[in-house]
Amino acid sequence: MRILHLTPEIAPWSKAGGLGDAAAALVKNLALLGHEIRVGTPLYGGIPGRDKMEIAIPSLQVGVHGDPRAAACRVRQHELGPKAKIWFIEHEYFYGAREVYPPREDAGERAAFFARATLDACLATGWIPDVIHCHDWTVGLVPVLLKTTLKNSPLGQCPTVLTIHNLQHQGLQPQRLLSYLGLPENLWNAQALECLGAVNFLKGGILFADRIITVSPTYAQEILTPEFGFGLDDVVRLRQQDLEGILNGVDTEEWNPQTDPLIAEKFSKTKLQGKAACKSALQAKMKLDPKAKGPLVGVISRLWEQKGLDLAAQALPALLRQRKIQFVLLGSGDPILEQEFRKLAHDFPNDCAVQIGYNHELSHQIEAGADFFLMPSRFEPCGLNQLYSMAYGTVPIVRATGGLADTVSPWQKNQGTGIVFKDADVGGISWALERAVQLYQQSAEYQAVQKRGMAAQFDWVQAAQRHVVCYELVKKQRQPTSSATR
Ligand code: ADP
Ligand code: GLC
Repeated sequence: MRILHLTPEIAPWSKAGGLGDAAAALVKNLALLGHEIRVGTPLYGGIPGRDKMEIAIPSLQVGVHGDPRAAACRVRQHELGPKAKIWFIEHEYFYGAREVYPPREDAGERAAFFARATLDACLATGWIPDVIHCHDWTVGLVPVLLKTTLKNSPLGQCPTVLTIHNLQHQGLQPQRLLSYLGLPENLWNAQALECLGAVNFLKGGILFADRIITVSPTYAQEILTPEFGFGLDDVVRLRQQDLEGILNGVDTEEWNPQTDPLIAEKFSKTKLQGKAACKSALQAKMKLDPKAKGPLVGVISRLWEQKGLDLAAQALPALLRQRKIQFVLLGSGDPILEQEFRKLAHDFPNDCAVQIGYNHELSHQIEAGADFFLMPSRFEPCGLNQLYSMAYGTVPIVRATGGLADTVSPWQKNQGTGIVFKDADVGGISWALERAVQLYQQSAEYQAVQKRGMAAQFDWVQAAQRHVVCYELVKKQRQPTSSATR
């Protein structure tokens, strides 16, 4: 099949969170299954080596309205394999900055532009996909464009799939985006794109895509409810028949303790000794007391409400005061929370270390060196770090929600791969951390949990195959006259 992916992130070129990892791994595995792939994504300022990239289209006039000088871009390309290419949309004004999601007044135009530019690149080169797969809100209007403005173009019959990686981020943008994209004005109503006086990009995708995927089966159920629907649960319920959950996986070329070049010593399920060296190296790097008796608990995360780390910050002092655990955190986000964790490190210098910022190398070293990995998320569409943790023999401590519930089974005598707790409150996290301490004290039992986690398979090949089944389905469903969903 010819498959076009549109994504604002693709690792290692761009990554703000798990979407970068997930998009990269999915595309790689689809290509390995023999499919022909193009990926449309912006060429952000921080992406190295642009001058060495081939130019696919020197100057592409993009079908957006407004200043015609701002409507042209260059398309560079990078070969991922014999039949897979990334099309990098180069537009200095929109994407010259390093950040993927800078807080800009024209965030809507910035998103809409690369989506439309990718479609125009298809039209210009005559590369017409069998399926178009859109990731998250920035490209949510693509299925809308195809069923309206571009209906009579060669792309008009292409079926579309939308993956919701996170329903919280919907892209509420000014009404002017409709005319910027040349979309029909009658879409400006609450049954279509309007939402709270804005154009809701993700709502457009949910209403117009032929099929909707979320990144875990439990999250696919959760988003049907007001608690997890962020105001769109009624819209998601309209599409319930076309909604499914497919779990992300682990890219074992990137996250594998047997081959990882970034960790102190390599290790495996049958040769776990190297993990102790990784823990010592992490303690030394983060200036933690190497003689501490308790387990080392790690976190790598965006510091936003979703992740529940504000609750962890309240639960941790009691355990640190009693020297029951050590704690290491790498992350950034909410400045108040950043400050709270800095203070925690200041108050417990021997047992708590905090690095604010983004650090690829340290993220691998925490995965390898920690004994436990904490994810107390209020909601979690899939979550990748619990999967990486299990692969590295680092026992996850997770709240039972979304992909965390689907991938970590609770520790009980002789079974389970992690510590699982229910309540998103300080009591819930304290309970889970105490339970982790108990488990760690029973070393044979702890090792058994580690090994069961390491044996668990979260395979991208299987996930890619499930996507192919979904692509086949939408291809079949999409008869020329079908307008089933509106
Ligand atoms: P989300 O996408 O919601 O942030 P995921 O668990 O799916 O959550 O993915 C997060 C990804 O981002 C993981 O690969 C994680 O290692 C990485 N990550 C998050 N924060 C940092 C950071 N400060 N430094 C390095 N990597 C980070
Ligand atoms: C989102 C979600 C996260 C998921 C990732 C990749 O950022 O918050 O749970 O793992 O996308 O699908």
